[in-house]
Amino acid sequence: MLIHSASQLICLRGGPQRGAHLGELDIIHDGAVYLQDDAILQVGTSADLLQRFPDEARLDAQRQVVMPGFVDPHTHLIWAGDRANEFTQRLEGKSYMEIMAAGGGINATVQATRHASSADLKKSTSSRAWSALRHGTTTLEAKSGYALDMPGEQRLLEILMELGTELPLDITPTYLGAHAVPPEFSGRTQDYVDLLVEKVLPQLKTWWRQRYTHQALPFVDVFCEPNVFNLQHTRVILSTAKSLGYPLKIHADEFENIGGAALAAELGAVSADHLVKISAADIRKLAPSASVAVALPCTPFGLAESHYTPAREIIAGDGLLALASDLNPGTAWCGNMQFVIALACRYMKLTPAQALAAATINAAAAINRQDKIGSLEPGKQADLLILNVPDYRHLGYRFGENLVQTVIKKGKVIDFS
Ligand code: NIG
Ligand code: FE
Repeated sequence: MLIHSASQLICLRGGPQRGAHLGELDIIHDGAVYLQDDAILQVGTSADLLQRFPDEARLDAQRQVVMPGFVDPHTHLIWAGDRANEFTQRLEGKSYMEIMAAGGGINATVQATRHASSADLKKSTSSRAWSALRHGTTTLEAKSGYALDMPGEQRLLEILMELGTELPLDITPTYLGAHAVPPEFSGRTQDYVDLLVEKVLPQLKTWWRQRYTHQALPFVDVFCEPNVFNLQHTRVILSTAKSLGYPLKIHADEFENIGGAALAAELGAVSADHLVKISAADIRKLAPSASVAVALPCTPFGLAESHYTPAREIIAGDGLLALASDLNPGTAWCGNMQFVIALACRYMKLTPAQALAAATINAAAAINRQDKIGSLEPGKQADLLILNVPDYRHLGYRFGENLVQTVIKKGKVIDFS
């Protein structure tokens, strides 16, 4: 198939974009892209490709933007129930951490998720995945973390893996057993950490290898925060995971800075996420490292807080910055990367070009998939969007409506009817 007459074909060639390079969109005006099966074969001008492939099936982009599908590298896609009551409590003055300490928060969703049937969980998760896809996300990372006991977490990972094969959307799984201390371990955080390190992580690896023979191990992630998993707990969990061969992620500096970002750099985590409270000293450690700094502006927005990740400082430190939604029932029930970009432009002062690159090629790097997705280059997977706008800057500039007209996943136009 030949997609032609794109007002702007946003190619993003050349790999993840660090520091001052962020936002190099590599635009072909009146561009075209030639797809074969599930891959991109050629990009060029419409004049050139129409002449070279005269007999191909054509899709006229009608002078609108064509770009790579969004990659959302941080979601908590799978859960049951909602926490609308907590939203009201927060507006009345209670903090997220106070609600969590009182047994609500993540553990409220853990109760609902443990009691939900697999069919119901699959249905609600699938509907959220379709909504993300409709808004242009063609690959997303999805974390377990709302069951916390081993069989329950395995069930969440299994459902995510099933959806990844059944839906026209790639799902990269993450094991987040260290999302909260489960109620049965209340007051015994160290015992729970010991269990994770001594039993769960090794057993999960064996189970995974038997069940998903050809799939890479999932990421292991930890919610590193005072009164959840402190720096020492996090270090033990992540270094054990690393020695077992799991790739690493971390929730760091979301509410307070206790050194999670520096730990991510030290351990070679693929990404360090949130970073709202990252210190200048930790920016100096994280930014030059290989770990991608993932900002999630829906989270402070969802919590009605005024501090956002200091993206400009991370970029100035030559960091690799990506954007993600954090889609979850507590802080940010939003899987729309266009809205993430709109927030990133306003509150983190990214330009639309920077935000677009952070939501595609750099987001792909945050899940180790930069060789396969995130740009329009020969050899990459044919995951593309046609927007209903003539200029990419409408992303960021506009918000609250869906600017995605057509989603193409692995070379096929998605039918949303
Ligand atoms: O990334 N902070 C930890 N995890 C989520 C929130 C999950 C929840 O509140 O259910 C986050 O913000
Ligand atoms: Fe999160």
